[in-house]
Amino acid sequence: MNKNFEIEVVDLVKKYKELVAVDHLNLSVYENEIFGLLGPNGSGKSTLINCILALLRYDQGKVYIFGEEMTATSFKIKQKIGYVPQDIAVYEELTVQENIDYFCGLYIFDKHQRKQHVDEAIDFTGLDKFRKFVPSKLSGGLLRRLNLACGIAHKPKLIFLDEPTVAVDPQSRNRILEGIEDLRKQGSTIVYTTHYMEEVEMLCDRLVILDQGQVLVTGSSEEIISNSSLAQSIDVVIFDLTDSVLNILEQEPEISHLTYQDAKLSFKTNSNRYTLLDLLNLLEEHNLKPVSVSSEKPTLNDVFLEITGKELKDNV
Ligand SMILES: Nc1ncnc2c1ncn2[C@@H]1O[C@H](COP(=O)(O)OP(=O)(O)OP(=O)(O)O)[C@@H](O)[C@H]1O
Ligand SMILES: [Mg+2]
Repeated sequence: MNKNFEIEVVDLVKKYKELVAVDHLNLSVYENEIFGLLGPNGSGKSTLINCILALLRYDQGKVYIFGEEMTATSFKIKQKIGYVPQDIAVYEELTVQENIDYFCGLYIFDKHQRKQHVDEAIDFTGLDKFRKFVPSKLSGGLLRRLNLACGIAHKPKLIFLDEPTVAVDPQSRNRILEGIEDLRKQGSTIVYTTHYMEEVEMLCDRLVILDQGQVLVTGSSEEIISNSSLAQSIDVVIFDLTDSVLNILEQEPEISHLTYQDAKLSFKTNSNRYTLLDLLNLLEEHNLKPVSVSSEKPTLNDVFLEITGKELKDNV
């Protein structure tokens, strides 16, 4: 176990009968980072979190948290963890405030301190107006916020958030995303699962892309994109492009999918190796002036599509 890691997962395997939901998976999370688990539905995100938290038995592998092996009886470790599950887990008969107090009370026994923590969690998730509401009276977004408040009220050092923004309106979503940034600023480490790539691009320092229980790629989203064989698309409107220039471009090993039709030149290129500037220099050398130039960088979805042939996005 490397001491710099807050979580280390080593060769984890989890099967549901024949189905391998987590497949020899390794990952490491550093202290105080926001770490994304990005993958399509059924890729094993929730199963992985439940295995890390020792809520599910697994078939093989080891999990270390805070430098110690994590097991079902690691109560000291568990006290420092907050878990916001994908499925809302609150008590229907308790109000917002009572729910948060209940979950906080599992860890914080001092009444005075707990009241302060509950108030802070209510404040943090913007639920003040809804303190006395029971869950059935809350909208989907407010319920998600309550779920979040219940998971973080005890001020855990390490927080697992499993798709906290699914089916919430943009206002609640932004509030949740800002809240996550704040939690990190307050010193927490955050593991965040989602299948919304925009969220990980915005929020996460590093991420893994999962598919079928395996890590496909790891790194910051910039690293993942620039390490992929994928390329940016360049589109140029230019009249009178000569055959000789077209030939030069065709010979360029970093360029692919080259077309020139109706004054539109399009190609793909690895943005690190053949840049827009290279193209503009080439055109200038040949006294050619483009009418317009645009380029589009690949996204994490493009990387995922390249590796798996599938879309990361879905309509859930
Ligand atoms: N209790 C279970 N019994 C049998 N199979 C399961 C169980 N839970 C999950 N699975 C299967 O394991 C695989 C991984 O599921 P998991 O819920 O971990 O994926 P996920 O990435 O969290 O998906 P989602 O984005 O839909 O939440 C899927 O094929 C799923 O059908
Ligand atoms: Mg899930």
